[in-house]
Order: sequence, then structure tokens, then C-alpha cells
Amino acid sequence: MWKGRFAQKTADLVQQFGESISFDWRLYKHDIRGSIAHARAQVKAGILTQEEFEKIEAGLKAIQERIEKGEFEFSTELEDIHLNIESALTADIGPTGAKLHTARSRNDQVATDTRLYCREEIDEITRLVVQLQKALLSQAKKHAEDPIPGYTHLQRGQPVTVGHHLLAYVEMLSRDISRLADTRKRLNVSPLGSGALAGSTINLDRKAIADELGFDDVTNNSMDAISDRDYLAEILFNLSLIGAHLSRLSEDLILWSSAEFHFVTLSDAHTTGSSLMPQKKNPDVSEITRGKTGRLYGNLMALLTAVKGLPLTYNRDLQEDKEPLFDSIDTIVLTLKVNAEMVEAMTIHTGNCAKAAADPMLLATDLADWLVREGVPFRQAHDLVGRAVAESIATNTPLDQLDLTKIDPAYKPEANAVFDLATALRARTNPGAPSPDNVKAEIERWHAAIG
Ligand code: ARG
Repeated sequence: MWKGRFAQKTADLVQQFGESISFDWRLYKHDIRGSIAHARAQVKAGILTQEEFEKIEAGLKAIQERIEKGEFEFSTELEDIHLNIESALTADIGPTGAKLHTARSRNDQVATDTRLYCREEIDEITRLVVQLQKALLSQAKKHAEDPIPGYTHLQRGQPVTVGHHLLAYVEMLSRDISRLADTRKRLNVSPLGSGALAGSTINLDRKAIADELGFDDVTNNSMDAISDRDYLAEILFNLSLIGAHLSRLSEDLILWSSAEFHFVTLSDAHTTGSSLMPQKKNPDVSEITRGKTGRLYGNLMALLTAVKGLPLTYNRDLQEDKEPLFDSIDTIVLTLKVNAEMVEAMTIHTGNCAKAAADPMLLATDLADWLVREGVPFRQAHDLVGRAVAESIATNTPLDQLDLTKIDPAYKPEANAVFDLATALRARTNPGAPSPDNVKAEIERWHAAIG
């Protein structure tokens, strides 16, 4: 494509080193779509006749068909998807194909293709996040009122319900969705017409190209348009944070499925055995999910590092944006799918959760609240309950069976009523708190929002 000024052919090793076709072939649809829009604008600009446009359009569509049928032979000599398609077009339709690249560079082409690709992937990933939310929601609905300990520092803290715990993940995922939507808005502008870096002396109707490609607007600065990879960093960050959320869910499920907790049994279909220990059933999906999060973070770091020292505008370093992007997208797609399926199929052992939540220590704070309602300042109430806890531990007597009145005259026999777990949960009625009525209302709200 650039043989004019070169006396030597590109070295084989350089071709091998620099090719991107082995991974950017997946931009073929977007490349062809962008080329058709670009060619249409060339008709308006007087570069192509309507006839030539139709020839180009038909030629590009035929190439797309060949690619989709697996009949297109990609060549590393032609470096990337853009040159592969353009060269095939010219081979197929003759000199008209050679007109297509007027007023265009691979720099604005790749920027356009990647934005189109990302837009599509964001929509797919959003759909998959919603699928996972729905799986969590269906479990939350089954267990809206079932008590379970809530932990801080992985020490039992206060009782919540299983539904409340699972809805926490639905919240995280909804923030992930809104971040993706935000990124989508920002990336949805058309760089086509920016050329290599300085636009073109040939006037193209950039707005019409943008409209045809479903972009909301055109980019404002040709140099920025060529160099901008912010949207990729945003996507890689968004996917990293989804990974973090899934990794936390994984950690909960790994703990919950241990014999020590036994709060959940994952289905046989979503676990694996041991080649040596016949009794084993391992939560591999959750572990791999936790592990893949490192890879998502790594991809974000790779991109941020690749762009940090680049002068304007395009530098070939930018080709390093694609593998991390594709890898993170492939990783998150599969991770979301398998986790949704696994969450849907898991069995929560409400009896074991309830048994753990019945530990009266979990209501020590409620006892302090009772003293507060009796007029005891909270700091003092905290201390009085702390003494009761120490007594319970020292005498090996459950907290709810102590004679509290012996600890301090501020206690009255009615204080022991705080240890009724169902009442204690029902009392947590503040917005965001886990009373069963609140949790059921939240489930309704989520159902209305995501179906
Ligand atoms: N394969 C290149 C990439 O992915 C396409 C753009 C090449 N542009 C250039 N001036 N060499 O970034």
C-alpha cells in the first residue's frame, strides 16, 4: 500500500511483529460499515459517482459475506483488517476500489471501527449484567425474609436477611450498568473525516457519515480524534470494577459453600471434583472468577501505560490497545454468563443461615439501643452491653440467658425481649435497612426496573 517510496520489501520479522490482523479481524463488520458510510459521503463530495458507490457497496458486502462464511483469507502481509478489506475490494472490483481511501486514513478508520465495536459490546455486556442481576433477584425473592448473619471483618456483626445480602450485589451491578451507559454516551461520536491527523482538503459531510453510523455527533478536533483512547480506558476500568464486584461475590460464595459455613450448595453442574480426593466438590467457577479479575486489572494497566508517554497524534503503540480490550470483553462476557447460571442454580440452606443468625451476640447492639431508649447515653450503653458480653463469655452463658439486672440497675427484665430475632429484623425499617418489608419492597422495585 505504500510501496512508492520504498526500495525494499518489509522484512518477514517486521511483518510478524507488526501485524494486527490476527486479532483485529473481528472489526471487519464495523470496518465495512464505516467504509460504506465513507463512500456515500464521497458521492456527495463528487469523488465517486453513484454507480461507483454501488459497486463499492456491493463489493464490501460480498467481502463481509465471505468473511462470515469463513471463506476469506486474511493475510499478515496486509497487516490489519483495514488493509485486508481494502485490498480485497480492489482485487474484486478493480480500480474503483482504489478510490475508497480518499480523504481517509487508517487512523480515523481504526478509531471509528473501535468505537462502533465498543458500542455493540457495551450493549451486550449490559444485557449480561442484567441477566446476573435477575439471577440474584430470583434468589433474593426466595429468601427475602430468611435471616443470616451480616459480617464486618468477617466476624458476625448484626442480623440481616439473605435477600438483603444478595440485593447488595444487585446495587453494585446497577452502578456498573450506569457507568457503561455513561461511557457509551461519551464514545458515541464519529472520528471519520479526521484523516491521518489533519482532516482533508476534500470536503466530506462528516455529520451525514455520523448519522449513518448511529453516532450522536462528530469529534471536534482531528488530532484528538486520532489519539483518543479514553473510551477504551473507561471500558477497561468499567470491566475491572465489574470484575471486582464479581470477585467479592465469589469470595462470599466460596466461604458460604465451605463445610464451616454451609450456607449454600452450588449445583453439581457448576462445581468440579478432585482427581485424588473422592469427596471433594470445589467452587472453581467462583475461584476462576476471582482469578480473572487480576487479568481485567492487568489489561487496564497495559492500556494506561501504553498511552501515557505518547506525543500527538497517532503512534503505532496505539495498536496495543486492542488485545487488552478484546481480552477483557471476552473475559467479562463469559464470566457474567457462567455466574448468572450458577447463582440461579445454587441452593441456599436457610436453616444453617438462620442457626448462625440466631447467635444472640448479633443483637448486642439492639440491647444497647434498648438502654438508649431508657435514657442511657449511647457510650454508656455500649459499655454496659460490653460488660454483659464479657460476663457471657466468662461464664459460658448465652447472652440472652444472663440475668442482666445483676450487671447494672439500668437493665430491666423486659430488656431480654430484644433477643427475639424476628422482632429485631422487623424493627430495621429505616430506608436501606433489612426489615423483611423493606427487602420485599426493594425486590418489587428491582422487578419493576429490570423485569
Ligand atoms: N493496525 C493499526 C492499529 O491497530 C491501524 C492503524 C495503523 N495506522 C498507521 N498509521 N500505521 O492501530
